[in-house]
Amino acid sequence: MKNIYLVGFMGTGKSTVGRALAKRLDRVFKDLDDLIEEKENKKIAEIFEEKGEEYFRKIESEVINEISRKENFVIATGGGAVVNEENYKRLKESGVLISLAASPEEIYERTKNSKNRPLLNVQNPIEEIKRLMFERAYYYIKSDHIIDTTGLSVEDVVDEIMEII
Ligand code: S3P
Repeated sequence: MKNIYLVGFMGTGKSTVGRALAKRLDRVFKDLDDLIEEKENKKIAEIFEEKGEEYFRKIESEVINEISRKENFVIATGGGAVVNEENYKRLKESGVLISLAASPEEIYERTKNSKNRPLLNVQNPIEEIKRLMFERAYYYIKSDHIIDTTGLSVEDVVDEIMEII
């Protein structure tokens, strides 16, 4: 079976939903950010701080390249992973892309205490969430399926995905 990739903005629940979905399907769950941290032996925030975003994106692409050669996983991608055309192509060829969405306000609430989201570590996070969302909308909406998670529980989202697949 092909992989199932959860894509979408930070804080849309990709990792939480992915874990629950993998359990339901009896598949193995992988989080791309965890794989990047393992590979670099550093937290995402440290990678951004010490080596910069460009370096992080390079490792992210390498990890996508490796995982897309495998099958049967449920995988949560980082919010910026699909913005790179090459990454997008690899993911699309090796699995089904399910995009999770939520409102900027809900995303802000879900991410405001996170120390591991360097891109939102700015003066006006809500404005930055809106700006990045607008910039990335094109990539998120070309997924195979889109689920608006606003107001839904994790199990509700898993139910929707189960119906889709
Ligand atoms: C990023 C999202 C993060 C992580 C990194 C960059 C992004 O993952 O990969 O901080 O560019 O949107 P989550 O979407 O899991 O928070």
